[in-house]
Formats: sequence, C-alpha cells, structure tokens
Amino acid sequence: MKHTQNNRESPPPQIELRESPALIRAIATAYADEVAAITDYTYGQLLFEKWLPNISNILEAISRAEMHHYLALGRLLRDLGACPALRVTVANTPYRLNEDADSHAPVLAQRVLKNRIRDEKNAALQYKRLAENAVSERARSLLSSLAEDEQDHAAVLESIVERLEFS
Ligand SMILES: [Fe+2]
Repeated sequence: MKHTQNNRESPPPQIELRESPALIRAIATAYADEVAAITDYTYGQLLFEKWLPNISNILEAISRAEMHHYLALGRLLRDLGACPALRVTVANTPYRLNEDADSHAPVLAQRVLKNRIRDEKNAALQYKRLAENAVSERARSLLSSLAEDEQDHAAVLESIVERLEFS
C-alpha cells in the first residue's frame, strides 16, 4: 500500500506506558480481585450493621478504599493498552448469625475479620511483587502504594480482632 502524504505526517500514536504482557495479565487479575474485596467488605458491612455498627462502618470505609484501588488499576490497564472490562464470578463466603446475635456477632466478626486479614496480607505481598517487576515509574509507584494500603487494612483489622478478643 502506498503511503499518502497525510500518513507520513501523522506518526502512529505513542503508547506512553509499557509493561510486559505477564505483568499486565497479573495487574488484570489484581483488578478483578479488587471487585471480590469490595463485595466481601460490603457483605461484612451488611452482616454486622445492626449488631456492631462501629465495625460495620470500618468495613464500609475499607470497601470504598478498595473501590479506589479498582479504579486506579483500571486506569493503569487502560493506559497500558489493555481493556479494563470484566467477566468474573464473585462468590462471598456466606456466614450466618445465630439467634443470640448480641453475643454471637462479636464471635462471628472475629472469624470474618481473620479471613479478611489473611486476604489483605496476600494482596499486599502480591502488589509488592508486582511493583518489583514493573518497569515504569507510574506502575511501580501505584503498585507499591496499593501494597501499603492493603498492609494498613490488615493492621486496622488486626487491632479490631484484638479488641474483640479482650472484650
Ligand atoms: Fe485493594
């Protein structure tokens, strides 16, 4: 095909951000995992809303923080030339509050929060690894800050579990 004058004057669009296909795939997985985290926290918020409103509020705040993670990773994927559309199945672990919810809620909360702490620590570790493998400053700094956020979430939840254990 012959190049027209117009083609010669319009260079192909620059992709400003480059990362390896393996890293982009791992970011896409983390992006989907954020949806699971958002819904897990929202589920916890709903579960404890009536019996432990303070804990429910904290779970809501973390759910909103995970929403920010989701958005930030979506922007990163978009700017890396990947499509931030999702096709996922979310499966929250169902919990049941006994009839004596007043006394059962704090016990159940410890179980739920311990599961969240485990997931947060895994997420922090995963983001740290991804940050180490990123070549662009933007991806590295976002992934590092997500690792710190997830570590902070784990610390907040650990302090709640401690308080519940001693109450
Ligand atoms: Fe997150």
